[in-house]
Amino acid sequence: MATHRKHSRNDPVQTDFSVDSPTHEDMNTDICLIRFGRTNVVPVSCPVLAREILKKNDAVFSNRPTTLSAKSMSGGYLTTIVVPYNDQWKKMRKILTSEIISPARHKWLHDKRAEEADNLVFYIHNQYKSNKNVNLRIATRHYCGNVIRKMVFSKRYFGKGMPDGGPGREEIEHIDAIFIALKYLYGFCISDYMPFLLGLDLDGQEKFVLDANKIIRNYQNPIVDERIQQWRSGERKEMEDLLDVFITLQDSDGKPLLTPDEIKNQIAEIMIATVDNPSNAIEWAMGEMLNQPEILAKATEELDRVVGKDRLVQESDIPNLNYVKACAREAFRLHPVAHFNVPHVAMEDTVIGDYFIPKGSWAILSRYGLGRNPKTWPDPLKYDPERHLNEGEVVLTEHDLRFVTFSTGRRGCVAALLGSAMITMLLARMLQCFTWTPPANVTEIDLTETLDELTPATPISAFAMPRLATHLYPTSP
Ligand code: HEM
Repeated sequence: MATHRKHSRNDPVQTDFSVDSPTHEDMNTDICLIRFGRTNVVPVSCPVLAREILKKNDAVFSNRPTTLSAKSMSGGYLTTIVVPYNDQWKKMRKILTSEIISPARHKWLHDKRAEEADNLVFYIHNQYKSNKNVNLRIATRHYCGNVIRKMVFSKRYFGKGMPDGGPGREEIEHIDAIFIALKYLYGFCISDYMPFLLGLDLDGQEKFVLDANKIIRNYQNPIVDERIQQWRSGERKEMEDLLDVFITLQDSDGKPLLTPDEIKNQIAEIMIATVDNPSNAIEWAMGEMLNQPEILAKATEELDRVVGKDRLVQESDIPNLNYVKACAREAFRLHPVAHFNVPHVAMEDTVIGDYFIPKGSWAILSRYGLGRNPKTWPDPLKYDPERHLNEGEVVLTEHDLRFVTFSTGRRGCVAALLGSAMITMLLARMLQCFTWTPPANVTEIDLTETLDELTPATPISAFAMPRLATHLYPTSP
């Protein structure tokens, strides 16, 4: 079991932040305390300490910080993910778990997800017919955007769409805005730590955040307004999607449980929560597998064995696709979408391991540090799905926090079922339906990371050749 280095003092390693300050990995410690302005930030990269925070002291660390980016994303803290530990969070989290992301609702929306899995195959097949490489960043991000738009709005496209099943201008703008909102969420914006600077936008982040959240809502809110009107006028009576569920929820007096503002902002937050993790993991998984074709072959062989070549892989096959899931899980470990998990704020003074953590500190699990911690993972930089194979069923959740997928505890992700289904279907469909090779004249896929983000510096692209009988490929978007 991994242990952290102990220090003679009863404090984490402390440092005042400056541009040249060392990271906690540089300092050879699994926990440290950095002061940003008046805020103590405590990064953690050891699973033992991570579990002390999110399991043993879960109740203490259930708060979230208030920042400009969080306020903007949640429409003034009306939602769930970025909302402080309060009654609004309790109300919204309960609604999400019991009404929106529940297993029953997941089943109800199965066919909408299946339509988007088919559209993914249709889109990639069209790239082949046009003799083009597939840009896997576009394919994976838009599959995720399509799934959640279909589940929420019963729509793939905001505008006319594209005949090849790919994203139109509107969807590209929508997804790009989602990634900008995410990039700057808790993005070390100077006014988050020195609130008296708010409004001056010294580092330029405030404008990016506000603009991105506006773009997301400009696409979505008119659909919400129109639908509310349809229910009010009696024109709409049948429940078709999650937007209908949000609108028709009632309190004990038979009044709407959610205001239009709550619905709009919660939907924006759900959109933002859905796209980045699965698309990033599968873009990386494909890049790694293209460079290790024996892994690609093994995953494809599993699909042939479990599903065969006479039908397309379905969600009902997921429990039997252990190697495919191990490939996705390994991508999460080695290539997290962000350096840190969402912050958890200490609601009182507490001790983690041997270290005193003052009330108000932000505990941030280092996704990078946990997943690449050599004390937990031998040869940590090697992409090796085998390390996740054990006797039981492979799952994408990781409650022991040896790396972060859906996290755990009372602020853990509510959507492990949906997220796992999306991730597995995305990879499984791509592998089952196509033989993948690097683009012509490329011998090795470039797996360098972007400097300030963790995406591949160059979007992974590859050539996809159909490998099933022609009649199995969808013929319309
Ligand atoms: C697809 C892959 C997804 C992954 C890997 C993922 C991962 C995460 C992570 C790491 C957290 C932070 C947990 C913490 O604070 O410790 C989180 C929180 C959350 N996620 Fe997800 N998520 C995914 C998809 C989704 C989707 C599709 C939804 C909703 C439709 C969603 C809703 C939420 C909510 C509501 C929270 C916050 C819960 C709270 O603060 O009480 N996630 N997720």
